[in-house]
Amino acid sequence: MGRAKKVVLAYSGGVDTSVCIPYLKEEWGVEEVIAFAADLGQGDELEPIRIKAIDAGASQSIIGDLIEPFVEQFAFAAVRANALYEGRYPLSTALARPLIASRLVDIAREVGADAVAHGCTGKGNDQVRFDVAIAALAPDLMVLTPAREWGMSREETIAYGERFGIAAPVNKKSPYSIDLNLLGRSIEAGLLEDPFVEPPEEVFQMTSSIEKSPDTAQDLEIGFEGGNPVSLDGIGFDPVSLIRKVNHLAGKHAFGRIDMIENRVVGIKSREIYETPGLLLLIRAHQELESLTLPRDLLRTKAQVETQWAELVYQGLWFTPLKEALDQFINSTQKYVNGVVRVRLHKGTANVIGRSSPNNSLYIPSMATYGSDDQFDHKAAEGFVYIWGLPSKLWAEARRK
Ligand code: ARG
Repeated sequence: MGRAKKVVLAYSGGVDTSVCIPYLKEEWGVEEVIAFAADLGQGDELEPIRIKAIDAGASQSIIGDLIEPFVEQFAFAAVRANALYEGRYPLSTALARPLIASRLVDIAREVGADAVAHGCTGKGNDQVRFDVAIAALAPDLMVLTPAREWGMSREETIAYGERFGIAAPVNKKSPYSIDLNLLGRSIEAGLLEDPFVEPPEEVFQMTSSIEKSPDTAQDLEIGFEGGNPVSLDGIGFDPVSLIRKVNHLAGKHAFGRIDMIENRVVGIKSREIYETPGLLLLIRAHQELESLTLPRDLLRTKAQVETQWAELVYQGLWFTPLKEALDQFINSTQKYVNGVVRVRLHKGTANVIGRSSPNNSLYIPSMATYGSDDQFDHKAAEGFVYIWGLPSKLWAEARRK
């Protein structure tokens, strides 16, 4: 891997991406490394990270504020898609990758770079997501992946960095690998590698433990328009503030922790801990509103599309014609997903206790009621049930003979 002169590196401030800077220059003969760090609302202080890249030898260090597009174009798309990978993980990490990749490519174009780079290792999903997204957006750009190739252990990586003035992480033996953004935190490795071991309380930051959560329940009304969350308890919020607020409320009530064994793209199973309170709550409420506003057959088909959508996003196939076509299907279903869902947050649970859609509800009281104002045609049911059951009857008769 050589020949690249000017490279834009996806930079996080962590050990691997920091070491990538001297490594690209010393070992692979890159002349200029431009670091790009994305602000995805993770709450990190970004100025120290920007400086750290310069200190590590970057010729330029850029911070990009991607919070708004992250929520509007990625998080809300996941809400409309009720996206849960393997039925559980709302893709909080996966959703960020195509956005970072696309900014990386834009910056590479702006500065006239001949390659981009990232610090992902060869075992995870994120390398797949970066590489595939970059290939889809800029098939001519080289992608350099030092951390996938250098074969250094973590200790060796730290030692290599120290030679170039990259300070060892304060928490040299922080056992976990953590990815975080506004939507959630993904925690793996360390003692979590034993799937029988309970995650210690210290790994969580966005969610309270059930024990420490309030004894009194709290109700929250989430308003949707066109499938997007727009209000909380009747008050309108912009997308970013809405996510922040829902994260806070759900997290306070200990809702949003996930402990799962998941199937990675590269074929291995891994044990993952997530906390993604807001996104998980919004998906649950959105699902509920769809059950009120969408016809039965559409719900059935959409459920299949949702599974596929979540898999594509997990597998790094965001920028593909299939994903685009599924988006068009999903978006075409959302026009009537308007209304309010009331949820009760309490001790790790978020139960729906009410839903309404004044204009678009398909729930027709005069059809559903068991009272005297029932308008459902009971006589019509007789013929319907006779014909519906006819195949069963014919089959049974034929076997009796
Ligand atoms: N398994 C999750 C995913 O593929 C999270 C990976 C996050 N990375 C990390 N360093 N913890 O989306």
